[in-house]
Amino acid sequence: MQDYTKAVKVFVEEHPAGVTAVLVTGVGLFALRRWLAGGVCRSKARLDGKTVLITGANTGIGKETAVDMANRGARVILACRDMGRANKAADEVRKRSGNGNVVVKMLDLASLQSVRALAKDIQQTEERLDVLINNAGIMMCPQWKTDDGFEMQFGVNHLGHFLLTNLLLDLLKKSTPSRVVNVSSLAHEKGKIHFDDINLEKNYDPTISYRQSKLANVLFTRELAVRLKGTGVTTYALHPGVIHTELGRHFLPSLPLWKRLLFMPFFFFVKTPWQGAQTTIYCAVDESLQNTSGLYYSDCAPKEAAPQGRDDAAARRLWDLSASMVGLA
Ligand SMILES: NC(=O)c1ccc[n+]([C@@H]2O[C@H](COP(=O)([O-])OP(=O)(O)OC[C@H]3O[C@@H](n4cnc5c(N)ncnc54)[C@H](OP(=O)(O)O)[C@@H]3O)[C@@H](O)[C@H]2O)c1
Repeated sequence: MQDYTKAVKVFVEEHPAGVTAVLVTGVGLFALRRWLAGGVCRSKARLDGKTVLITGANTGIGKETAVDMANRGARVILACRDMGRANKAADEVRKRSGNGNVVVKMLDLASLQSVRALAKDIQQTEERLDVLINNAGIMMCPQWKTDDGFEMQFGVNHLGHFLLTNLLLDLLKKSTPSRVVNVSSLAHEKGKIHFDDINLEKNYDPTISYRQSKLANVLFTRELAVRLKGTGVTTYALHPGVIHTELGRHFLPSLPLWKRLLFMPFFFFVKTPWQGAQTTIYCAVDESLQNTSGLYYSDCAPKEAAPQGRDDAAARRLWDLSASMVGLA
C-alpha cells in the first residue's frame, strides 16, 4: 500500500500539468452534465384525493412522472398499450412511492376505438380527473399507419391525444382546477403542419413527421386554452430535454454501427428519465402556473414557442382538421 501511495506521489510530481489537466477536464465535464440536467420542480404540492392519468407511463419519463405523482398522494392511472409492461411498471411505481393507489388501463393511441374505449371506462368509473398528462410518443418510425389509416407519428402523438382529451373534458371540468399537460419537444421549432398532405403520403420523412406531430402538440395546447378559457381547466405544452429513454428505438437501430458508436459519448450528457420528467411535473403541479394557460415550458420555466407554435390561425385550422379526422362533432 505504501509503495502504491509513493508511486502515485512520484507520478503526480513528475506530471503536474497532465494531472491538473485531467482533473480540470473531469470536474468540467461533471459540471457540464449537471448544468445540462436542467431545472428541478421545487413544488411541494400534494395531490391527496386527486387523480392523474398519464399516457405511455410504462417506461421513460412517463414512468418517472407516475412515481412523482404517486409520491404526492394521487391516484395514478397508467394508460398503456402493453399490459405486461404496464403491470410491471405499476408494481415499481407502488414500491418506490409506497402508494398502492396506482392502476393500469389499456390504451393504444394508434387506434381511435381504443381511445374511445378508455375514455368511456374513465367516464364510467372515475369520479374525477385532476391532471391529464399526454406523454406517450413515438419518434422517427418507418412509414407506418394507425388502425384508422393515419400516419403513425401524427396519429399517436397528436390525434390520439386530441381525441382522448376532448372525450375527458367533461370530467376535467367537473374536477377544477384541473390541468392538461402535453409533452411536446424542441423538435417543434423546425416543424410545419402540412395541411395539404397531413399524412405525408407524397413524400414521407420520419424526421419531418416527428416535427409536425410535436408542433401539433404545441398548437393543440394553445387552441385548447382558448376553448377552455374561464372553465378552470388550464393547459401546458413542454419540452422535457434530451433524455436517455427508449424513444430512439426506431431510429438508432437503423444507423450503421460506427454511427451508433459515435452516439455513445453523447449519452453521458443527456438527462436521466428522472431529470427529464421534471418539467412535466412542474406543469402538472406548480402553484405559480395555476392562472396561466396555453403556453410552452422548458427546464421548469416558461419559454417562448417557435413562431409557428404561436400561430393562432394555424392552431384553429389544425383543431378543425383534427376534429374531422377523429370524427368529433
Ligand atoms: N427522450 C427525449 O429525449 C425526448 C425529447 C423531447 C420530447 N420527448 C417526448 O417525451 C415523451 C415521452 O418519451 P420518452 O422519451 O419517455 O420515450 P419512451 O421511453 O419511448 O416512452 C414512450 C412511451 O409512449 C408509449 N407509446 C408509444 N406508442 C404508443 C401507442 N400507440 N399507444 C400508447 N402508448 C404508446 C410507449 O409504450 P411502449 O413501451 O408500449 O412502446 C412508452 O410508454 C414523448 O412524447 C416524446 O416525444 C422525449
